[in-house]
Amino acid sequence: TIYPAIMCGGNGTRLWPLSRALFPKQFLPLVNDTSMLQDTLLRLPKGSNEPVFICNEEHRFLVAEQVRQLSQEQSTILLEPEGRNTAPAVALAAIHALAKDENAMLLVLAADHVIKDTDAFHQAVEQASVAAQQGKLVTFGIVPTHAETGYGYIKKGSEQTSGTFDVAKFVEKPNAQVASDYLASGDYLWNSGMFLFKASRYLEELAKHRGDILENCQQAMKGVEQDFDFLRPNKTDFLACASESIDYAVMEKTDSAVVIPLDAGWSDVGSYSALWEVCQQDENKNVLKGDVIAQNTTNSYIHSQNKLIATVGVDNLVIIDTPDAVLVANKDQVQEVKQIVERLKADK
Ligand code: GDD
Ligand code: MG
Repeated sequence: TIYPAIMCGGNGTRLWPLSRALFPKQFLPLVNDTSMLQDTLLRLPKGSNEPVFICNEEHRFLVAEQVRQLSQEQSTILLEPEGRNTAPAVALAAIHALAKDENAMLLVLAADHVIKDTDAFHQAVEQASVAAQQGKLVTFGIVPTHAETGYGYIKKGSEQTSGTFDVAKFVEKPNAQVASDYLASGDYLWNSGMFLFKASRYLEELAKHRGDILENCQQAMKGVEQDFDFLRPNKTDFLACASESIDYAVMEKTDSAVVIPLDAGWSDVGSYSALWEVCQQDENKNVLKGDVIAQNTTNSYIHSQNKLIATVGVDNLVIIDTPDAVLVANKDQVQEVKQIVERLKADK
């Protein structure tokens, strides 16, 4: 059976000032009334085991509370004293699942994705489980729409079984030129950052390519301490672990990857322009949240948490008002919000 492992340790800095270090985007109701973490839970395939969450120690009560709002059952929350990126996070979840079930099938999900077509997602997972049973590391690939440099790219190889392709090449975050070549070639899919594999196979591949990470995570899990819903791997061992993403540590290197194309209205809501795209827009192509009067305003995302925002004669803007910070940005340059957060951190 499937063991969902939900990664919720990110910071969502490009959605500042809505998303904050103490309250990152996955915990916010950005697209509807439930948070993105809750949406992730609500769309888990039926019959899955109880999910495991992997998050930062700082966010433990947010996760516990948001899970409790949806389910009375006890949850399992693996706490990282500090993030070491996704390769170790997935390793912790894999070691934990394997201790319960040697055939555990890990469905790795991010807590901050939007998927509009839940049925298509479920079908893809079902299809993926066939290849995963055979020991493959399955990724879900999205047909690219632009030369995004923030994603991994997967070159489709030959079709193994209907709808399941070999991975000819996996390139994490290529530069702009390479990304646009890939887009033009039509041979590439975006890595969605969701995976299905046997927990044992992930650990084998990790051993092969990044034995150091596996070693540290295994040590850390030997010393794991339980405190109600919270599982704390040994701090010293975990902090000694290298910081690396699953994409660089395993997916780029393994020979066992396959890809299943997924057409399900997926978005990772990485920026305000992506958020604007997935939200319901009005007839002027605006997304207006809170107290907003938009006069002769088009293509904009305007969100007030505090004051009345009024705009006249503007196009393609992002305006965010929170109690202690206001952001005004050109919607085509919202990737740079990240730099603002870096400057804020440097000034502290
Ligand atoms: N527990 C934990 N610990 N979770 C983490 C950590 C960590 O240290 N770092 C990141 N995460 C979580 C994030 O919250 C997010 O849900 C997910 O793991 C992916 O991390 P990101 O930091 O958002 O990765 P990315 O967007 O740069 O790239 C990944 O996702 C893209 C699609 O959104 C890669 O897999 C790319 O190849 C992929 O295209
Ligand atoms: Mg991301």
